[in-house]
Amino acid sequence: MHDFVNDDRFKGIKPFEKRVLLASPTMHKTADGNSWTELDYVREAFETNWITCAGSNLTALEPLIADYLGAKYIVGLSCGTAAIHMAIKLAANKLYGSNTGISTPDGQVLGGCLYGRKVFCTDLTFDATVNPIVYEGGEPVFIDSEYETWNMDPEALGKAFEKFPDVKLVVCAHLYGTPGKIDEIKSICEAHGALLIEDAAESLGSTYKGKQTGTWGDYGVISFNGNKIITGSAGGALICHNLEEADKARKWSTQSREPAPWYQHEELGYNYRMSNIIAGIVRGQMEHLGEHISAKKAIYDRYKEGFKGLPVQMNPTGIDTDTNCWLSCMIIDPEAMASHERSDKEATYSIEPGKSSPSEILDAMNAFNAEGRPIWKPMHMQPIYRKNAYVTAAEDKSVSEDIFARGLCLPSDNKMTAEEQAIVIKIIRNCFE
Ligand SMILES: Cc1ncc(COP(=O)(O)O)c(C=O)c1O
Repeated sequence: MHDFVNDDRFKGIKPFEKRVLLASPTMHKTADGNSWTELDYVREAFETNWITCAGSNLTALEPLIADYLGAKYIVGLSCGTAAIHMAIKLAANKLYGSNTGISTPDGQVLGGCLYGRKVFCTDLTFDATVNPIVYEGGEPVFIDSEYETWNMDPEALGKAFEKFPDVKLVVCAHLYGTPGKIDEIKSICEAHGALLIEDAAESLGSTYKGKQTGTWGDYGVISFNGNKIITGSAGGALICHNLEEADKARKWSTQSREPAPWYQHEELGYNYRMSNIIAGIVRGQMEHLGEHISAKKAIYDRYKEGFKGLPVQMNPTGIDTDTNCWLSCMIIDPEAMASHERSDKEATYSIEPGKSSPSEILDAMNAFNAEGRPIWKPMHMQPIYRKNAYVTAAEDKSVSEDIFARGLCLPSDNKMTAEEQAIVIKIIRNCFE
């Protein structure tokens, strides 16, 4: 690998002693400095011995999130992926009258409520958006992104419905916190009698046209994974609009136990419920969500200002949105891209004056102990999903491939100081010398 530390372009810059991270958990000291906001709620769980999947934290957290989002019902779950899985099962129940799908002629349940069915989903996303479709035997069909938001392209979605008119379910993610064109997507779904699951795992607190992401769809999903805008160490939540469905998800996620004196099961169950410990951490973090969003916005603005004059753009913040700016990203203008190739496991690039590439910038930042990441590799390019259908608006152009080829995620940790960020910006600027 190139020796960036001794490269003349970076003269005078020293590696960070403490690694500057992409996005890590931020916990909060109490006002007196003697404890932690989050820990006090966890302590309450310990002291009352409610440490499993019930207790005051979980009971308080669900309406707290619902209130914040302007949503009707929230179900606390073990992670965002579990929430997507539960949303899919609820959707299948509504669409096909079954959440277990195929069974043998004599009634033995084989599972797979999406068995043999296609589902449209975001192409440029983390694979957790998509995998639960496959858990249920469904076949993801990937929908390309558009440049204005980097999210699902409504035009490509429209084309997908022309090609596959029987599809009745769409899973749509808001990448890096920026809301997609969710009202257009919702209208297209409605016109085709399809249900919409909104993956707002990365966009908690972001609004589109004044309404929180996650609340537009028939179901919504949030993640409290360690790298998210707030975290419970893990955890996730399902957003839904009616009590019956919220209760169903609560039942399924606690092994589908029927009210009986013994373990009685009429439906397939899952161990997906959020624990009262995780709920305590999230409850404490909710008090600081606004502060986290402000810190992320300040990071985004500093990058934007710091990159002035460079042949790069920041990731879009969307149209008529207020975004949580969860991850700041950049994309290099096509004419400023140095030669850059990626195989399935490795990247090669050349160092060219006035130009750079995502891999050069990531390696340079890494050499100085700062963590970036490539743009999430599009699903249609993933070996596991390469045979799946993929629909783009223009026949010969993949927007998500282009964003992956030219873009990268920048250190966006809300504990990164302005001084540290100024050095990160300098490193990136120097890559273009
Ligand atoms: C877009 C997206 N969807 C779903 C998930 C899954 O969330 P979790 O890690 O809580 O299962 C994540 C993050 O991890 C994500 O980034």
